[in-house]
Amino acid sequence: MVQLGPFKIDHPFILAPMAGITNSPFRRLMKRMKSSIVISELVSANGVKYASQRTLELLKFHEEERIVGLQIFGEDTQLLCEAAQLVEKLGADFVDLNLGCPVPKVVKRGAGSAMCRNPFELGKTLTAMVKSVKIPVTIKIRTGWDEKSKNAFECVQAASDAGVSWVAIHGRTRAQGYSGLADWDFIGDVKAKSPIPIIGNGDITGAEQAFSRYKDYGVDAVLIGRGALRNPFIFEQSEAVMHGQTPRKIHSLEYINMMKAQRVLLEESFNPKGAMIHARKFLSWYSTGFPGASEFRRKVFNSPDADTLWNDTFEFFETATQGRDMSFLSEPFLMGGHG
Ligand SMILES: Cc1cc2nc3c(=O)[nH]c(=O)nc-3n(C[C@H](O)[C@H](O)[C@H](O)COP(=O)(O)O)c2cc1C
Repeated sequence: MVQLGPFKIDHPFILAPMAGITNSPFRRLMKRMKSSIVISELVSANGVKYASQRTLELLKFHEEERIVGLQIFGEDTQLLCEAAQLVEKLGADFVDLNLGCPVPKVVKRGAGSAMCRNPFELGKTLTAMVKSVKIPVTIKIRTGWDEKSKNAFECVQAASDAGVSWVAIHGRTRAQGYSGLADWDFIGDVKAKSPIPIIGNGDITGAEQAFSRYKDYGVDAVLIGRGALRNPFIFEQSEAVMHGQTPRKIHSLEYINMMKAQRVLLEESFNPKGAMIHARKFLSWYSTGFPGASEFRRKVFNSPDADTLWNDTFEFFETATQGRDMSFLSEPFLMGGHG
């Protein structure tokens, strides 16, 4: 057990929030795969005001997900407070504010990573948010706007003064987008000076690396995003490394069983068409790097119904994983997103 802000968690390895990915069924799956906490994708605080069906769908979660945080974004303090109150009313364990999104549509409005450009104003918004709810308020930021303005520490100070429970830092500037490498030395420097817990994030693709980032940079936890899509066993493997154990060998059957569980969760959560759309997306990622992946993807995108899609999937992975040591690939992957 480790302490992260107000929560006691099994271990410090946490699935990063990802738009279009960390929806409720995937969070449930990753909870079963031992992510110690899960966080929703970003949800617009403006959408919350109008309580659109889509927004409410995005805020749904299942008891199985706890400890679960719902992530919001927006530029208007009042709307952010109202959204935080709705998150609290829905029963989430904490509310996370997205301050890392680099997408032009979001930053032009002054939301996402643009909010960190003025730590003083940010502090006022965070103070209001913390006052508006009883659940913990957390934030996720980047190292700064660009190389010349890496002001993550000023943002951490503002967050700490406001009563924010932790700050997750993606180790890139807004200008970097997803290029270059996450600057863990910078994250470590901020952590060393920070009065509140810091979660480090960026480019973790393996269990040994996850643990060494945690240990070497002294952070309170690490977020793993894209790496978990390639290797969903990374959370339990990282925990094993933390306890001085060699991560157990993953049997290919376990990988296939995980996909079977995902099918059930998707079909429980979406209509048949929606479940197929999500399945195609995840299965394409899972297949990357396995022999015959591009042909498999073509098949999956053309399958007429769910049974054909999943039968082709299990057949593909049974063959593709045969006799293979299930050490997963780690080259760069999905070079874009909302944080
Ligand atoms: C497809 C995609 C969507 C993302 N969506 C979000 C999001 O909704 N909220 C957020 O805070 N970060 C989002 N991110 C950023 C990730 O949480 C994380 O900071 C980033 O991917 C770096 O970590 P990684 O190298 O472990 O993937 C997204 C990233 C990707 C690739």
